[in-house]
Formats: sequence, structure tokens, C-alpha cells
Amino acid sequence: MIRPLIAGNWKMHKTIPEAVKLATRIRESAAACPDRDVAIAPSFTALRPTAEVLRGSNVRLCAQNVHPAPQGAFTGEVSAPMLADAGCQYVIVGHSERRTLFGETDELVRAKIQASLQSSLMPIFCVGESLAEREDGRTFDVLERQLKGGLNNFQAADIRHLVVAYEPVWAIGTGKTATPDQAQEVHVFIRRMMSRTFGTDLGDSLTILYGGSVNPKNIDILMACEDINGVLVGGASLEAESFGRIVGFQKL
Ligand code: PGA
Repeated sequence: MIRPLIAGNWKMHKTIPEAVKLATRIRESAAACPDRDVAIAPSFTALRPTAEVLRGSNVRLCAQNVHPAPQGAFTGEVSAPMLADAGCQYVIVGHSERRTLFGETDELVRAKIQASLQSSLMPIFCVGESLAEREDGRTFDVLERQLKGGLNNFQAADIRHLVVAYEPVWAIGTGKTATPDQAQEVHVFIRRMMSRTFGTDLGDSLTILYGGSVNPKNIDILMACEDINGVLVGGASLEAESFGRIVGFQKL
């Protein structure tokens, strides 16, 4: 049994007072669900105040991005040791918005995963195909390239705390969700590929999240898929009520 992980990605939303208010409510909903892990990813400015709110709770703090270097002349960037220092336990790496809007390559994603692991942060490594790639029948090729590129030269022991998030780009922020069958098919592909590359122990215990327009209406059916171990939620994580319902998903 893989413990479910429900993660909220707040993207570039919430001032510090707003973040504190929302985190306080999420802390309450998560307390009622001790059989699952919950994480929230505020923007950098709200990390520390949110960490204070989450202290002693079962909600973990997640960053949305990280620079590969531990320190240096990289104006505007934040390093993995700084995130750990702020109280983060997870970090999102390779989100499609970073790949498409900020030109992140598989190689850079790999460097970010390595830096995160070195600071004992658990990377939530995002992969996913665009609509054109899906329509061209290239979904699995794209995922294979992203997984191989992002995890090149790692050993199974290095990545035992890594989480993979399958986020089809065409489902992010569009209101279009992959059907449970579409998601399950890709999750099986990812698990098999990870088992082939890193061994079945890793593959069998790997947490694979689904992301892309997850909401209170579709959460239960998505979580009923055997290989969906949790979700990465954008829009619906910005309101306490909708995220609370997602955290409290019903087992079908
Ligand atoms: P969404 O975003 O839930 O708003 O589609 C998901 C994500 O980007 O992680």
C-alpha cells in the first residue's frame, strides 16, 4: 500500500496573510485525515510564515522551484539549502509551466532533482505530454524522454523519496481532466519504466501523482485508479473548501 499524497500547488497566488489563512484551514482538514499525506506549495515569500502555521501538523511544506547550485551569483534564484532552511520537505521540479514558459530542459530538471536530494528535499518530478504530442501518438515517447533525462545516472537508492507527477499539459488549468483510464494507462507505463530502470522495489513503491484540473468532483474517481497514488492540484487548491474536499477524498 502506497500512502496517498495530496499536494496543492498555489503557483503565483496568495500574499502572506492570505497564505497563513488558507494554511490554517488546510491544517484543520488534514488533521481529520491521518491516513494520507498532505503538502502545500506557497510562493517563496510565504514559505516561512506558512511553515510556522504548519508546525506540529501533518501538512508538509513544498517549494515550487529550486536552483541547482547551493549558493552563488544567481540573482533572483533560491537554492535547495535555503528551502530546507525555510522548512520545506518537498519541492516541485520540472512543472510544465517552468518547461514551457521558462525554457527548462530535461538536463536542468535533472540538476534540480540532484540539488534537492542533496538537501534531503523530496522532489515532486513533473512529466507530461502536450496536446499535439498526444494527438501525434507520441505520449509515451515524450514521457520516456522526460523520465530518462530527469533521472539520468541516478541509482535507485538516490531516488527512493522521489515522487513522480504525471501532468498532461493539455489538462493543466483547462478544466479538461484526463479520464481515469487515460491517467491509469500512463501511470502503469511510468511504473513499469521505473521498475525496468531502477528495479521493482522502487517501481512498486513509487508514489505517482496525477495532476491537471483535479477538483472535488473528479477526485474520488481518480483516486480509485490502482496506480494513482495521489494528486497535484493547482486551481482547486486555492480555496480551503475545495482543497479540503480533495484532501478528504472518499475511497470508492
Ligand atoms: P490545475 O493545475 O489543477 O489548475 O490544472 C495543476 C498543476 O499545474 O499542477
